[in-house]
Amino acid sequence: MTALIIDTDPGVDDAFAIALACSSPDVDLLGVTTVFGNVGLAMTTRNALRILALYGREDVPVAAGADRPLVYPHPHRARYVHGEDGLSDRSNLLPERATGVAGTDAVSLLARLLEEAPEPVTIVPIGPLTNIALLLAAHPGARGKIERIVIMGGGIERGNVTAAAEFNIWSDPEAARRVLAEEDVPTVLVPLDLTHRCAVDAAWLDSLAGSGERGRLLVELTATYREFYSRTLGRDGTVVHDAVAMAEAISPGLLATETYAVDVECAHGPARGMTVADRRGAVARELSGVDDGREVAVAVDADLDAVREFLLSRLSS
Ligand code: BDR
Ligand code: CA
Repeated sequence: MTALIIDTDPGVDDAFAIALACSSPDVDLLGVTTVFGNVGLAMTTRNALRILALYGREDVPVAAGADRPLVYPHPHRARYVHGEDGLSDRSNLLPERATGVAGTDAVSLLARLLEEAPEPVTIVPIGPLTNIALLLAAHPGARGKIERIVIMGGGIERGNVTAAAEFNIWSDPEAARRVLAEEDVPTVLVPLDLTHRCAVDAAWLDSLAGSGERGRLLVELTATYREFYSRTLGRDGTVVHDAVAMAEAISPGLLATETYAVDVECAHGPARGMTVADRRGAVARELSGVDDGREVAVAVDADLDAVREFLLSRLSS
């Protein structure tokens, strides 16, 4: 059983990730915290509540967190990918949750859930890393209760929102740098390079839609998102980035990792938000005399069909 907390900005692929956790009997979902990102905080929070309602999870506490990055204001949103409401303008198809947000903020909820947990917990940040940087800065004692942080973010060879940067990292580079380069918590980074290789096709989406009411609704939520990815991929299908990271969080080792030092470009130039992975190897690093310090596990490969099957079988149940 994996005790797990999701930090999220739903977002279509976030919806798939939350659905995956809810439909996994081996997950103990302790809480969900929300952050600005794909759309504004009020909408990401509303969407998180509704996705949980779809799975009958009135019991999972939800708390809203940061509505902007740590240091620099950042008005960009991803409505052109996820729709005006973050769920392809289909969020009204989802039920309302009777239980609203907890009477506390995201960082306080994260700290309390970690403190109360009898065993270390896996945190799965699938949006900008603002809440997680704040947690680690304000509650250093919480580190000991974190089993792993499994992050969807970054790109090793490419970006998506700019040539160099992936959306989650670019949305708050200073927060991402704190979490990826300055902390000492076991961390897995699931970057764009691999999530794109796990893209799902029309047949996969049809199978999910045919699996039952929840599967049908999840596929409905992809309308705008699927159109964006079908155009960029050049074929009908979509990329469920956050669900790939969630799959690794639930089933450690599903993705193959390599260990790199990863830094984040925080300058205000064309590479802002870029994840810079040092892939020279330990010997070359040592000989160069320049050591980038802390290392994280970066997901670089997987049995791609096994990942797609893992997602489909759980989301269909
Ligand atoms: C990431 O950015 C968001 O748009 C998605 O939800 C995902 O977390 C992919 O770059
Ligand atoms: Ca996301």
